[in-house]
Amino acid sequence: MKKLFCLLALIVSIASYAQTMKEESISLNQNWKFIQGDDLAYARPGFNDSGWKTIRVDRIWEVSGYDPYDGYAWYRINVIIPSSLRKNAALQDSLRIYLGKINNFDQSFLNGSLFGINGKNVPAGTEPDTMFKKAPQNLWDAKRPYTISASDPRIKWDQENVIAVRVFDQGGQGGLYTGDQAIAMTKISDYLVIENNKNPYRFEKSNLLKSISLYNSSASYVMEGDFTILAVNKVTGAEVYKSNTKKLMLNPGDRQEYNLEIEKLDQSAIISYRFDFVKTRSSINVTDETPYITTPEVPDYPRINGAEIAASRPGKPFLFAIPASGIRPMSFEATNLPMGLKLDQNTGIITGKVDAKGNYKVMLKATNSKGVASRELTISIGDRISLTPPMGWNSWNCWGLAVDEQKVVASAHTYRDKGLMNHGWTYVNIDDGWEINRDKEPKRDPKGNILTNEKFPDMKRLGDSIHALGLKFGIYSSPGPYTCGGYTASYQHEEQDARSFASWGVDYLKYDWCSYDGIAKDTTLAEYKKPYFVMRDALAKLDRDIVYSLCQYGMGDVYKWGDEVGGNLWRTTGDITDTWESLREIGFNQVKNQPFAKPGNWNDPDMLIVGWVGWGPSLHPTKLTPDEQYTHISLWCLLSAPLLIGCDLQRLDEFTLNLLTNDEVIAIDQDVLGSQAKQMLLDGDIQVWVKELADGSKAIGVFNLGERTINYSLVFEKAGLKSGGELRDLWRQKNLGKFEKSADIAIPSHGVMLLKLK
Ligand code: GLA
Repeated sequence: MKKLFCLLALIVSIASYAQTMKEESISLNQNWKFIQGDDLAYARPGFNDSGWKTIRVDRIWEVSGYDPYDGYAWYRINVIIPSSLRKNAALQDSLRIYLGKINNFDQSFLNGSLFGINGKNVPAGTEPDTMFKKAPQNLWDAKRPYTISASDPRIKWDQENVIAVRVFDQGGQGGLYTGDQAIAMTKISDYLVIENNKNPYRFEKSNLLKSISLYNSSASYVMEGDFTILAVNKVTGAEVYKSNTKKLMLNPGDRQEYNLEIEKLDQSAIISYRFDFVKTRSSINVTDETPYITTPEVPDYPRINGAEIAASRPGKPFLFAIPASGIRPMSFEATNLPMGLKLDQNTGIITGKVDAKGNYKVMLKATNSKGVASRELTISIGDRISLTPPMGWNSWNCWGLAVDEQKVVASAHTYRDKGLMNHGWTYVNIDDGWEINRDKEPKRDPKGNILTNEKFPDMKRLGDSIHALGLKFGIYSSPGPYTCGGYTASYQHEEQDARSFASWGVDYLKYDWCSYDGIAKDTTLAEYKKPYFVMRDALAKLDRDIVYSLCQYGMGDVYKWGDEVGGNLWRTTGDITDTWESLREIGFNQVKNQPFAKPGNWNDPDMLIVGWVGWGPSLHPTKLTPDEQYTHISLWCLLSAPLLIGCDLQRLDEFTLNLLTNDEVIAIDQDVLGSQAKQMLLDGDIQVWVKELADGSKAIGVFNLGERTINYSLVFEKAGLKSGGELRDLWRQKNLGKFEKSADIAIPSHGVMLLKLK
């Protein structure tokens, strides 16, 4: 009976593009068994798993009924690997076991022997240990293609094999979840890497330049084929570029570079890079999309940008740099400043302390050789702070645990040098990785004060240097004994750590959850709230304001009680990564929390994934297409989300800068009404989100989640809008005219039209 069951699991599929050689694979999509907990005996082929439950591997285990569950679990599957697979293959030397993506970490075993850890092959004889749980945080989004030599004695050809996967879920979603698991012989095309994403496009006058390369990663195969690059206008489909290299030869290890030069368009071009292998008549094809700039150039004359309100509590230090664009030198004036504040006329930085509560209306003025700008700023002295969503930079999505002082300082300087602070960007936040690692001693000084590691020799110096630029300083900790990255956290030292933060000049604390799992008694709301109350009380005793950012991935509907525990913002989801799937899942699901956003309380769908990101020492340009990035920034602004840049600021390219410095777009996020957009219309692949603004107008995002450009007729009434009016394209900062009942717009796939309706 069992044999029959296994034979049913063997589904042989034939890849469609292989005409001369069959490229067979065995699907591993079904018949997995599952158990929670951990025992290395589960890896043994003879282990009796008949008591285990079956589980799907195309969805996280929470959806299969294990909700909530974090920690260890095991998956097992029995599979016959037929020798015909090898016999019929063009290349006969290696077998590829593909397990899809795994949330978060895995050790994978074939017939009792470990063959792969977190997507990397390991030699036979490698002993399993628990270190695999200390891998980079973004591995949940990484594919697990494992390769084993076809002559490896662990493979039992024509017999039953057992694949066992030990999974550790460190929080949030867990398990094997992509549903495309399979076994196949490696193909020649598996070894060809089209490196089209290593370098971003460069902008030069009317052209875009980029270098890409073809890399033969095999040790022994020569590749021969035709290489075609074809670019078409994403919206009209017109061909804009073509090149074709016939009979290209790539020796093992060879890398061939190509320089592309394409005309700038006012939308993306889709570029496809296709390699047709001569011998197997198979081909591989990858695509990317060209960037296009919409934000008009920043004028030379002065313009005051950013939020129209700034807040602090009575008697607490106030710091505000007037965000003004335009050429320097510039001088500043501020009339009606409340008592206790003073302005530096050369830098535009306002500092001091105000004791008396109130809403002070201050008139700001900025002057340079090209003109004068003035604008009103409300300075609110009261109990609530962070009255518009925080805007800043955080080290995590770029440097991960590889952050150091020099990288933070460099970011702060880029704020000024690239003009980011002129558009309202304020916070410079260190995420995890500044504390002492759990494996090192001492973690605290003899008095119990938290110590920093060698990468952060002097936090006070760092805080001072950030403040001197008119910027604010943020830091990270966890309520458990250790942070998510395995560094010292604040458990049982909350007050002391809060005092250390204050003494360094910290203005913002991101407070995670990791390792508090082991402290919390259960998963009740009371236990979820407890550690956040403790830190709230510690922060309240300080002589400075600290914006309080909760990071527990949305557990227990945090949006309902984040305010009660003192939070100014709270993460509503697991960690974001730079893929469309991640962006779409997170961004377009911010629906139920909508009513809970207000001045001082923000839903946080996680940090931005534009620019060069990487979660570790080596960075890459975001994998999002330009339209996906426009969608990302537009949606976050509509959602009144905190805007925390997650990229290396020193590598800000022209396109990313265009995304981050559009004042009319940022103004949507920073609108003082503080209302979050509502999802008003789902119409096929189109979603329409509408945000109420303080001046009575509305911001409208029309998003295309589909795979083709859509010419859409936005009927105002269908989107819950009572009437039409003047429409403005916010990215291009252009009026589109008056529209009565509807407006026709073309929206590229995964792209957006961000409008303001007056
Ligand atoms: C968690 C958070 C991330 C980051 C890391 C640091 O995963 O969600 O944003 O702070 O911890 O280890």
